[in-house]
Amino acid sequence: VTSTESFDGSPAYLAALEQDYDHFADDIPEQRRAEWHRRRQSCPVSYSSFHGGFALLTRYEDAYGALADTDTFSSASGAGIPRQPMALIPEDMDPPQHRKYRQLINPPLAPQQVALYEPWVREMTIGLLDALDGQNRFDVVERFARPLPQMVTLKLLGIPWDRLDLVARTTTLLSTAPRGNAEADQAGIELFTYLTQFVAEKRADDSSDDMAASLTHAEVDGELVPDDVVLSMLALLLFGGLHTTTGAIAGALVWLADHPEDLARVNADRSLIGSSIDEIIRFTSPSSHLGRVATKDVMIQGCPVHKGQTVMVSIGSGNHDPEKFEHAETLMLGRRANHHLGFGIGPHRCAGSHLAKLQLQVALEEFIGRYPSFRVEDHSLLHYAGGEVRSLDRVPLIVS
Ligand code: HEM
Repeated sequence: VTSTESFDGSPAYLAALEQDYDHFADDIPEQRRAEWHRRRQSCPVSYSSFHGGFALLTRYEDAYGALADTDTFSSASGAGIPRQPMALIPEDMDPPQHRKYRQLINPPLAPQQVALYEPWVREMTIGLLDALDGQNRFDVVERFARPLPQMVTLKLLGIPWDRLDLVARTTTLLSTAPRGNAEADQAGIELFTYLTQFVAEKRADDSSDDMAASLTHAEVDGELVPDDVVLSMLALLLFGGLHTTTGAIAGALVWLADHPEDLARVNADRSLIGSSIDEIIRFTSPSSHLGRVATKDVMIQGCPVHKGQTVMVSIGSGNHDPEKFEHAETLMLGRRANHHLGFGIGPHRCAGSHLAKLQLQVALEEFIGRYPSFRVEDHSLLHYAGGEVRSLDRVPLIVS
C-alpha cells in the first residue's frame, strides 16, 4: 500500500492501509529496523488496530512535525499506548499548563547542576564494576546497566538506600512486563504504596535538599503541589530514567562488542566516547515510540488523521530514516550534526537528558577502562523488552 497515492477516503481504502503494528513485540532491533524501513518506504503513515488502534508515523519529518506541534498532537492522554493507568506529570499535559510543572523539575536536572553529580555517579559506577571482580562472564544488564540508573535515580530523588531492592524489583517488572501482567500490577501497588508513604515523610521533612523534598514544598499558582501530583512526578522521574538509560548503556556495549574495530578506536582515543553519546542515543533509540492524540483533522503524507485519533510517533524509525541520516543503520562514532529525536522534541524534550548522557559517558569510560576487550557470549540469549521503550534486558558478556 502506498499511502502517498491519492486518497479517496473510502473505508475500503482505510482497510487496505490497516497494517497491524505492535510495539510490544519483543523482536530484535534488526527485525524492527527492517520493519521501520519497509514502512518508511512504502507506507509512512499506517493504521494499526493493536492496543485500541493508532496511526503510526515512521518518517523523520513526520515524527519531528508531530512532536513539535503540541497544538495538533496532544499529550493529555499520555505517551503510552494503551494508556497508562496513571497520568504522569508533566509529560501528560499540554502547554501552557505543562510549563508550570516542568519548571519544577528543571533546576536539579540542568546541565550545570548535573555536572556536579559526576563524582558520585562515577563512584557508583566503579562500585558496580568492583563488585564484578574476578568474573569474566556476566549479564551486563543485570550487574551494571540496570543497577546504575536505579542507584543514580534513588540518590537524585532522595529515596533511602534501604529501599533500593524494592524500587529495583518493582520498576524492573513494571518496565519489562506486558501491560496488564498480574505480577507487574502487584509490583505497581507495592511501589505506589511505598511512594505514598515516602511523599508523606518528605512533606514533614524540612531538612533535605533532594528532588522529592523540593517537589513536596513547591507551589503552582500559589498553591502547594498536592501529594497525588508529587507522586505522579516522582513516578515519571523514576520510570523516565531507568529502562531508557539501561537500554542506551547496554545497546552501546553490544555495538562495541560486535564491532571490534570501533572498540579498538575507543580504546585508542577515549574522547570518542564523549563525542559519540548523541549517536548512541540516536542509534539505540531506547524511547522508541510516543503516543499523542490528534486535536483536529490533518493530512500527513496524503493520509488522513482524524480528530481524536491516537497517533504513535516512532522515534526509533525517525532516527533511522536515511533521508535524514547518512548511513542511518550504522552507529558512527563521533557523528556530527546529529539532530536525532531520541530525547524528543519541543516542550516535552527529555528533562533528564543531561543526566542520562552523564551516566552513559561515565558508564562507558569506566567499563572500557576496566575491560578493554569484551564480546557477547551468545547472541541468541540477547533479549529485548518491547513497549514504548524498547530496550535490551539481557546481555551475557565475556570480558577480558
Ligand atoms: C537514555 C535515556 C533517556 C531517554 C532515551 C529519554 C527519552 C525521553 C523522551 C523521548 C522524552 C519525551 C517524551 C514525550 O515527548 O512525551 C522524555 C521525557 C522525559 N524524560 Fe527522559 N529519557 C532518558 C532519560 C531520562 C532521565 C535520566 C530522566 C530523569 C532523571 C528523564 C526524565 C524525563 C522526564 C521527566 C520527561 C518528561 C518531560 C516533559 O514532558 O516535559 N529521562 N525522555
